[in-house]
Amino acid sequence: MPGVSNHHEKHLLQLENKVNTHPMINQVECHPYLQQRDLKEFCEERQIAVTAWSPLGKGNILQDELVKSLAQKHAKTPAQIILRWHLERNTIVIPKSVTASRIKENFDLFNFRLEEKDMEKMSKLDCNGRLGIDPEIEDFRFL
Ligand SMILES: NC(=O)c1ccc[n+]([C@@H]2O[C@H](COP(=O)([O-])OP(=O)(O)OC[C@H]3O[C@@H](n4cnc5c(N)ncnc54)[C@H](OP(=O)(O)O)[C@@H]3O)[C@@H](O)[C@H]2O)c1
Repeated sequence: MPGVSNHHEKHLLQLENKVNTHPMINQVECHPYLQQRDLKEFCEERQIAVTAWSPLGKGNILQDELVKSLAQKHAKTPAQIILRWHLERNTIVIPKSVTASRIKENFDLFNFRLEEKDMEKMSKLDCNGRLGIDPEIEDFRFL
């Protein structure tokens, strides 16, 4: 089965009961302010790859003080720090940009790594900071 979007544990279980298999990919809102730890673990146990939508928090997280300080430390941009953080946690990223130089910047992630202590600090940014509609609401339309 190909991929789904915005499926939480209960939706994946409903699907599993119906078709007796798992999707290959689940695309969900995920960024440093909404880290989706439990859902990621649930998906990883079932070998469902997690793709982050709004991986930069729609650009809102680029001004975060910790992200800016890690950017300075690694001589990278805040966007690159956030995107590298996703990759370190085995998440697929689809950042959106209409700016050619940013698109190029967003690919340039493979010549540095975040250290364990950087990842630990980033983990503390999680604050249930959802930007999109919550798939838990009753009339959520799955995309
Ligand atoms: N499946 C779903 O339900 C769902 C829902 C929402 C979104 N999505 C998908 O998720 C993808 C991305 O989400 P998103 O657009 O909401 O948020 P995002 O990728 O987190 O953020 C996009 C914003 O960040 C800016 N940006 C990108 N790279 C940057 C950089 N290197 N430096 C500074 N600013 C940068 C962009 O500006 P500029 O464009 O002006 O450069 C834009 O304003 C889209 O492809 C979208 O289709 C899926």
